[in-house]
Amino acid sequence: PRVPVVCIDGPTASGKGTLASQTAQRLGYLYLDSGALYRITALAAIRAGLALDQAHEHSIASMAERLPVAFEQGRVLLGGDDVTDAIRTEEAGMNASRVSALPAVRTALVALQQSFRRLPGLVADGRDMGTVIFPDAQLKVFLTASAARRAERRHKQLISKGFAPTIDTLRADLEARDARDSQRAVAPLKPAQDALLLDNSEQSVEDSVAQVLAWWEARQ
Ligand code: C5P
Repeated sequence: PRVPVVCIDGPTASGKGTLASQTAQRLGYLYLDSGALYRITALAAIRAGLALDQAHEHSIASMAERLPVAFEQGRVLLGGDDVTDAIRTEEAGMNASRVSALPAVRTALVALQQSFRRLPGLVADGRDMGTVIFPDAQLKVFLTASAARRAERRHKQLISKGFAPTIDTLRADLEARDARDSQRAVAPLKPAQDALLLDNSEQSVEDSVAQVLAWWEARQ
């Protein structure tokens, strides 16, 4: 039998990470934050002095293929260096969005993402978990929330970390990232044909987790 996978895809700041990691915890499954891999790739490329453009697509892809990355106790290590905070800035997200639009980079990260599918099961979040990486997943959820709500949540998050761009700046920023992610030629952000849609604009995290668990139960 296939190792179970729950995919949670959706736009920037929709709450995918929180929903996916809590669902994984409740099910006792592994958790894959695929966006972190693009963030780490972008950071590794910048540290190697590469511009994040098409001219460097193949050099960046070959770095991505042998990314010395480790996830340990909630920390993200790149070649032994703790990059947990460095990959969480808005700039790191924008850079991730740039490298993720390069087809060779996406291909280079496929095997690494699929290697997280191990027993007892996996919950994976990203943009193309259900469409490209785990097309045979047993449950696919497409999570959305209004741009206003997402900007508000991101604002709260950033304030708690000590930076505070305005809500309007954040909203413009995430709409730009949505546009880039939805319009790219390869693996654009869109719901899988068999995904269930969940809009959490007016929903608590607990209620979203309960919904996903109920869908999961219904499929057993
Ligand atoms: O989810 P997160 O905001 O960390 O992702 C950062 C960027 O990485 C996204 O804006 C998107 O461009 C890219 N990404 C992707 N495919 C994924 C996950 C993230 O293209 N599966």
